[in-house]
Amino acid sequence: MRALVLCAPLVVISAGCAPKDPGPPTYVRDVQPLIERSCLSCHKEGSIAPVQFDTPEKAKLLSASIWAAIESKRMPPYYASGECNAYKDDPRFTAEETEVIRQWVENGAEVGDLREEKHAEVPQLPTIRRDRVMTIGTDFDVRTMNPNELDNYRCFALDPMATEQLMVTASEVIPGNVQLVHHVLAYEVLASQLGELQALDDRAPGPGYPCKSGSVGIDGTLMRQIAGWVPGSSPYQLPPNSGLHISAGSKIVVQIHYNLNALSRGEVSPFDQTRVAIDVDTSGTLKLARIIPMFNDDLDIPAFEKKSVQTAQFPIGLIYSGARIYGLSGHMHQLGTDVKLEQVKKDGTSKCMVDINDWDFNWQRTYELQRPMTLEVEDSLRITCTYDNSQENQAYIGGVQATPRRVRWGESSFDEMCMVYMTFVQ
Ligand code: HEC
Repeated sequence: MRALVLCAPLVVISAGCAPKDPGPPTYVRDVQPLIERSCLSCHKEGSIAPVQFDTPEKAKLLSASIWAAIESKRMPPYYASGECNAYKDDPRFTAEETEVIRQWVENGAEVGDLREEKHAEVPQLPTIRRDRVMTIGTDFDVRTMNPNELDNYRCFALDPMATEQLMVTASEVIPGNVQLVHHVLAYEVLASQLGELQALDDRAPGPGYPCKSGSVGIDGTLMRQIAGWVPGSSPYQLPPNSGLHISAGSKIVVQIHYNLNALSRGEVSPFDQTRVAIDVDTSGTLKLARIIPMFNDDLDIPAFEKKSVQTAQFPIGLIYSGARIYGLSGHMHQLGTDVKLEQVKKDGTSKCMVDINDWDFNWQRTYELQRPMTLEVEDSLRITCTYDNSQENQAYIGGVQATPRRVRWGESSFDEMCMVYMTFVQ
C-alpha cells in the first residue's frame, strides 16, 4: 500500500510511475534467452543430449533437474576455471543470471506471458564438409575381447587416400554406437610404419587389433594426432589458415575405447561402426598446426591419499619457440580432480593457461583460448595434476568398491595419466 501512496502524486505530475514490479522471473521473458544461449545447442530435438527442453512447456516440466544441473555446475559441461584464463564461447552463466534461474524455479517455474517472449540465438555446433569419410570397415562386435573385461581398446587402420600430402583443416568423429564408445583417437601412421601396422592387424583375430589406452603400439604416433572424440565432442575446426599435416602414403590408425558396462543392461547392441570424417586442403598454403600432448608420466600416487599433487616442468620453448597456442584439453583417468597447465617465464613468474579444476572423465573437451598465447624460447610449461586416491573415490568393479592402491602412470582405466593436449600453429 505504501508504494501506491508514494507513487500516486507522480502519476499526476508526469503521467508515469516507478516501473511496476515485474514479479518473479518467467520462462519466456527471463529464462528462455539464457537457456537458448547456453543449453539448447545440445538440448534441442535432434542434438546430442538425451533430454530436450526446447519449448517453454518442456522446460517447466524439467525445471527441477535443470536447476539441479546448473546449481551443481555440472551443466553447461564446461569445467575450465574462469579465474585461470578466458575462453572463446564460454557458455556459463554469471552469478546474476544464475540467480534469475534460481528465482524462476523457486517461484513455480512459470511459463509467463507469451507476448513478453524474448529469444537469444542458439549457437550452432560446428559442422564440417566431410571431404573424406573413413569407416572402421565392419560392424565390429565389441565382445571381441582383450583380457580386460569391461574395457575393450581396439585399433583399426583407416585410409585417408593420401595420394599426395594433405592438410586436415577440420575433423569429426561419428561414433557408431554411443552407448559403448567411450573415446576415439586418430593418429597418422607414416608410410614407413605401415608394415608394423599390418603385422599388428594380422596377429589379432577379427577386425583391427587390441591396443591400450593412450597407445596404438606404433612409435611416435602420439605426436601425430589427427582427430579425437569423447562424449560431448562436436566437430573440430583447426585454427584459421592452418591444418594438421598428413604425408603422402600415410594411413590413419584409430583407437576406440569401448566400455562394455552398457551391455549388461541388455537391449544394447554389441556392434559398432565408427566413422571419422576430415576436411582436407591441398593448396600448400596453410600453416602447420599440431596437437601435442604435454605430459607428466612420472606419477606416484600413494594409496589412501586424499589430495596427491604431481608436477612436472619442461623447457618446451626450446623446441616450439614462436608457437601460437589456440586450444587446450586435459586428460586424466578416474582419480583425477584437477589438471592445470602454466606458462613459466625465465624470471620464474607464471601465467595460467588452463585449469580444469572440476575434472570429469566424461567431458574431455577442448578449451579454445580467447587470446592465443605465444611460446617464447626461454619459456617452460608446468603441468600439475591432482588426484584423490581415498577410499570414497574408488571405482566400483562388478558392484564392489575397490581398495586404494599405489597408482602409477599407465594405460588401463585403473592406472592414471596426466596430460594436456595443446593445439598450436607454428
Ligand atoms: C555441449 C552439449 C551440452 C550443453 C551445452 C548442455 N548440456 Fe546438458 N547434457 C548434455 C549431455 C550429453 C547430457 C547427458 C550426459 C550427461 O549427463 O553428462 C546432458 C545431461 C543434462 C541433464 C540431465 C541429466 C543430468 O545430468 O542432470 C540436464 C538436466 C541438463 N543436461 C541440463 C543442461 C542445462 C540446464 C544446460 C545449460 C545450462 C545444459 N545442460 C547444457 C549435453 C549438454
